Amino acid sequence: CRVVVLVSGAGSNLAALLAAHGDPAYGARVVGVVSDKPAAGGLTLARTAGVPTAVVAPQDFADRPAWDVALAESIGVFHPDLVVCAGFMRIIGSPTLERFAPRILNTHPALLPSFPGAHGVRDALAYGVRVTGCTVHLLDAGVDTGPIVAQGVVGVEPDDDEASLHERIKAVERELLVRTVGEVARGGLRVEGRRVVVG
Ligand code: GRF
Repeated sequence: CRVVVLVSGAGSNLAALLAAHGDPAYGARVVGVVSDKPAAGGLTLARTAGVPTAVVAPQDFADRPAWDVALAESIGVFHPDLVVCAGFMRIIGSPTLERFAPRILNTHPALLPSFPGAHGVRDALAYGVRVTGCTVHLLDAGVDTGPIVAQGVVGVEPDDDEASLHERIKAVERELLVRTVGEVARGGLRVEGRRVVVG
């Protein structure tokens, strides 16, 4: 199963996928990494692992629609069976959705449908929840609204701040993502309304 990973940041989730993909039994190989940020740490991880990369930076395009088309094309170059958004901080536009959905997974650092959007960890902490976690879901046209594939629970400690809580969530998140990508790679996925059957 050919996997393309989209990153915007440090790429710790990508790092976990790269650590797993060397085992032929895993069933998935990262064949390309695409970022909207030229300096994303995830690009360095990919290059070190010998995985081809592409940068599709909004500032290089006249407008959002042009960027959306370029993103879909840059992903398509790698002929993916599965696209994984791992800390990609842009809304995926219709050209990419139309071409690759439902085979686009996203990981979010909260228990959706609670705390969607770009500050899920901060929002959960501010709300005062006692447990939060992470969600792997299929991408749809909304923001963090697609059918849920897997979730992991993380307890909130009294002295947590956003950074400490996010670090603890990321430890669970990367394991959940690696496991889910492997299951989808080896057994496929079926979508029945909001239910997703993997394997
Ligand atoms: C992850 O927690 C992801 O869910 C969130 O941002 C973080 C990215 O981390 N959107 P990394 O770039 O994979 O280290």
